Amino acid sequence: MLFISLIIYVILFPNIIYSSPGVSSRYKTNGFHTHLEYRIDPDLTMDSQCLFVWHRLPPYLYIEPEELYQLNATIIGSINIERSSSQSHPFAYCFILYNSSKIPYRHSKTFSINIHNRYIDPKSDDNQQYETVYLPEPVIHFTKKACPYLGSGCPPPLTETGIESPRELTVTIPLGQQKHLLFVYPLTCLFTLIGCSLLFIFSR
Ligand SMILES: *[C@@H]1O[C@H](CO)[C@@H](O)[C@H](O)[C@H]1NC(C)=O
Ligand SMILES: *[C@@H]1O[C@H](CO)[C@@H](O)[C@H](O)[C@H]1NC(C)=O
Repeated sequence: MLFISLIIYVILFPNIIYSSPGVSSRYKTNGFHTHLEYRIDPDLTMDSQCLFVWHRLPPYLYIEPEELYQLNATIIGSINIERSSSQSHPFAYCFILYNSSKIPYRHSKTFSINIHNRYIDPKSDDNQQYETVYLPEPVIHFTKKACPYLGSGCPPPLTETGIESPRELTVTIPLGQQKHLLFVYPLTCLFTLIGCSLLFIFSR
């Protein structure tokens, strides 16, 4: 009897576990950049027609717009890569990872993104040199229905079908120091001036 239940258990076990596509992920932090990689393995017991990714980033993080265009992502908000955190706004983007009304999702897919830290403005308290901040991960949505149209914006996240990573990633961003700025600003201006003069001289 025990043996039979064991066999039934083994046969049914995969169905119990795989109630949604599985996500595995890796990340690598390198100074001001974090490389995130995701692999989505299909749930063979469920026919997903559409997988899409939804990601919202706080003002202190950004992704190069070029990288998002390559993913055919719809971007909500604008990304200015040169601004500091306090001059930036959060933005969101979404893209379709799999879309087929005929063939259900059967083969693993991967995607990766590079997230950059923005400069955080100096604090008046000069002793603090770093700040550890939260790095939200993308939410991967899957649905048995047709893909939503992402042309005019990202639809609200489908909470019932989102796979969120259980990790709580953080990044440590160095804070600008007031006293460093005293010479960083003139130096930046000087280099810009030299660069422009050279360009002006050589373009004549
Ligand atoms: C983006 O869209 C273009 C044109 O529709 C297509 O050729 C390309 O494969 C798409 N890229 C991705 C990553 O889906
Ligand atoms: C998904 O694919 C179908 C064709 O199979 C196409 O008509 C539809 O526009 C696609 N949806 C999106 C959001 O790309």
